[in-house]
Amino acid sequence: HMVTVTAVHGDITRQRVDAIVNAANNAMRGGGGVDGAIHRAGGRAVLDDCIARFPNGLRTGDAGWTTAGDLPATWVIHTVGPNYAAGERDRELLESCYRRALEVADEIGARSVSFPLISAGVYAWPLNDAIDAAVTTIAKTPTRVEEVVLVSFSEDTHRRVQSQVHRLFPPPTEPGSVGQLFDRPPAQMGMRGDAYLWLALRAEFAATPLPSTWFELRPMVVQAAEGIIGAPLAHTDDPIHVPEFDPGHGMSAGNVLPSWWHQTGIPILIDRFEAAQQTNSSEPAEG
Ligand code: APR
Repeated sequence: HMVTVTAVHGDITRQRVDAIVNAANNAMRGGGGVDGAIHRAGGRAVLDDCIARFPNGLRTGDAGWTTAGDLPATWVIHTVGPNYAAGERDRELLESCYRRALEVADEIGARSVSFPLISAGVYAWPLNDAIDAAVTTIAKTPTRVEEVVLVSFSEDTHRRVQSQVHRLFPPPTEPGSVGQLFDRPPAQMGMRGDAYLWLALRAEFAATPLPSTWFELRPMVVQAAEGIIGAPLAHTDDPIHVPEFDPGHGMSAGNVLPSWWHQTGIPILIDRFEAAQQTNSSEPAEG
């Protein structure tokens, strides 16, 4: 089975999952950020278990479990990310945190796991790359975990995680949904950011029923697109750089071309809408 991955904006200590992942440090005796929140909410039992099970701490890139104490979870899976601020810049170590945490989850039989963005806070790992490391490592790590929740503390981080999760773990579109119009991406698109926007709109409309006319559909699509890229989809030829779409390598990945949407993307969606209307209307009339 494939693990389902969702993005959530909130406090990781409130997540109702089997295991909550902690962004710990090598000493494994608590700290600030997620570490502080988990020890505060989990209580003394978590620290006692850290001392008992990790007398010599935990290596960077490794993971290990303790009780979750008073947290709404059975386990805390602690992992130590590389400290970018201290010059630890090996992305393999960051990816290893997610891989090892999923291996530990399999060892203890956790079926649902929530992750914070490891190293993206005090350890100052560049945010987009920290998100890319999380989603791509989770996507390529075989695991028996059924549900992974990526928890972001801030709205801006959540929007970035959401667009990467939509890209790598697209939700299924419901029959008769606006999202179904996006099921097949067009052969040619404007720039790489247009492909990300296409997938983000598909996910956003996965459960939205089709409106009755295309002139209701058009503003729905334009407004949703503007909400995702954070800029007007005006009739300009200038590309719009969308930070959320830029996984940290090369600027082109984050560019959306408004003119492509007006000249090609939106007309394709309207054609598909009209075709869907035809097939629907060709169904035998009621009664
Ligand atoms: N819930 C969800 N996410 C949170 C929470 C929370 N309660 N608190 C912070 N975050 C986010 C941060 O905004 C950041 O994006 O989690 C990410 C990781 O941030 P940190 O907790 O600072 O972890 P990290 O960058 O890996 O640094 C680890 O910080 O807290 C100390 O003891 C810890 O020394 C270790 C270092």
